[in-house]
Amino acid sequence: MHRSVLVDEVIEFLKPEPAELILDATVGCGGHAEEILKRITPGGRLIGIDCDEKALEIAQERLRKFSGIFQLIYDNFKNLDKILARLNIKRIDGTLFDLGISSLQIDDASRGFSFRSPARLDMRMDEGLKMSAYEFVNSASFYELDGILKDYGGERYHKRIARAIVEQRQKDPIVNTTELARIIYKATPGYYRRSKIDPATRTFQAIRIAVNNELANLKDGLDKISHYLEPGGRLVVISFHSLEDRIVKRHFKEMVKKNIYVNLTKKPVIPKQAEVEENPRARSAKLRAVIENVSRSF
Ligand SMILES: C[S@@+](CC[C@H](N)C(=O)[O-])C[C@H]1O[C@@H](n2cnc3c(N)ncnc32)[C@H](O)[C@@H]1O
Repeated sequence: MHRSVLVDEVIEFLKPEPAELILDATVGCGGHAEEILKRITPGGRLIGIDCDEKALEIAQERLRKFSGIFQLIYDNFKNLDKILARLNIKRIDGTLFDLGISSLQIDDASRGFSFRSPARLDMRMDEGLKMSAYEFVNSASFYELDGILKDYGGERYHKRIARAIVEQRQKDPIVNTTELARIIYKATPGYYRRSKIDPATRTFQAIRIAVNNELANLKDGLDKISHYLEPGGRLVVISFHSLEDRIVKRHFKEMVKKNIYVNLTKKPVIPKQAEVEENPRARSAKLRAVIENVSRSF
């Protein structure tokens, strides 16, 4: 089961209250949603979106006791305008984006996110997507691979790794996670292989971001949600790597400049030591929050 991060902090900044309408744009296994639902009853409503059908099944079960006051939607949050239009929702009191992948996804070896267990390269959060990591790794051009490893992975040996991937797939397609990890290992220098971070970490992150189009989706989701927040409505975003955090930070800065949002977190909020000790996956989490300007006129 996925352990939700920064739960107290999410509640502190989202301030869910009875009768409010909250959008959980990445409901996952429903951990944050459960805490939100406890606070918006009576009279509240929660809409939970996720692009992973398996996560939604778990959330549905977990939130059963709140049945009738939440709805789970299998979709991508980049489509939140269409989703809300279908539900005839025009205004929202608060929204949470808890980005990235869940433990459910990374711990299920068969989904091909992890280089530690052998599985077919996949990495799709939404198993309905046409292109998986297998297609991407075996069809992207050298330049595309090189650029993605550099930009999305911050991988120092991007050229060497991209070249090794292209050379290997000319012989045979690269099918497995561990096979790709071995190619990366062989393409990088000795000192790098011995460092604390596995040499495959950055390449796997980069491919995952590309396959799931994570950065473009985040920009779309953030752009769209501002049209739905009530004045005084709150938006909380948790990101897990610097590329996401940069997008959130820039977007909030622009919106504050336009007088649409007021910033609630001058610096990103990070988990306390105790939380990181209990849940190491929380260590890279950064929370930023804004509130829709009450003096804004529509
Ligand atoms: C960190 S988990 C959320 C965990 C959840 N807050 C909880 O407490 O259980 C992130 C979730 O976001 C989903 N996700 C990521 N990008 C998405 C997108 N663009 N649209 C919809 N869901 C997305 C993933 O499938 C994953 O289930």
